[in-house]
Amino acid sequence: MTASLPPVLEVRAAHKRFGAVHALKGVGLKAYRNEVLALLGDNGAGKSTLIKCISGVHEIDEGEILIDGQPVALHSPAAARSAGIETVYQDLALFDNLTPAQNFFCGREIAGPSWLPKGLQFLRTRQMDKDAAAVIERLKVKLPKFDAQVALMSGGQRQAIAVARATVFARKLVILDEPTAALGLRESRKVLDLVDQLRDEGNAVILITHNMEHVVDLADRAIVLRQGHKVGELRPDRSNQKEMVSMIMGAE
Ligand SMILES: Nc1ncnc2c1ncn2[C@@H]1O[C@H](COP(=O)(O)OP(=O)(O)O)[C@@H](O)[C@H]1O
Ligand SMILES: [Mg+2]
Repeated sequence: MTASLPPVLEVRAAHKRFGAVHALKGVGLKAYRNEVLALLGDNGAGKSTLIKCISGVHEIDEGEILIDGQPVALHSPAAARSAGIETVYQDLALFDNLTPAQNFFCGREIAGPSWLPKGLQFLRTRQMDKDAAAVIERLKVKLPKFDAQVALMSGGQRQAIAVARATVFARKLVILDEPTAALGLRESRKVLDLVDQLRDEGNAVILITHNMEHVVDLADRAIVLRQGHKVGELRPDRSNQKEMVSMIMGAE
């Protein structure tokens, strides 16, 4: 963290309503390079809504989002991606009828040759299979045949593909919404190692998790949401684990 650099991401006084539900009530946050920021809160606190506003899935009703100090309008997930934001959603957005490689490159397929106009290029299927396989290999997740459809895979295998995709395309900010929720111990460890790696490569990482061990092990800073409000911010360690839990629960 360098004090002179603006945060990679800043959210100012964000409000989001879904009809009568006021999901975000003036939430602010800052995320810095080389930092893992844990986003904590009970179910319904507004965590997923907040990250979906940062990822271009929802638009905030009031407030501001700044990337590298510049206000941005993130009207779509594609706009967020081109601003350097990679997101692994809780409700995993993988397409059942596609293979892992196709899921991997969905929306950013490798095509060629480059001297042909875009519309006449063909997909570099083998290149994409190879690239996707290489990353998933790094994750050490056992997949069924690589050209199998995603529909045939377990929750853990799907999650691994989604996280792997984010690590490959990460440029600035990576958001992981409960990335270990569907994983066993060994797979969780791999994902946490990737989180470390993403931070060491200079990204800002926002990690949503209910696992306090993971928060204490990994997060440099944590913010807590409750019923759409930001109710706390601290540097997680063993000594304030209880304090974090009571912030989350709202019990003093
Ligand atoms: N698309 C939506 N339409 C209506 N209400 C929603 C929608 N998404 C979230 N909510 C509501 O917003 C509140 C916050 O939800 P969410 O952000 O998913 O919480 P968390 O991820 O912290 O569990 C909840 O009351 C939830 O029911
Ligand atoms: Mg959620």
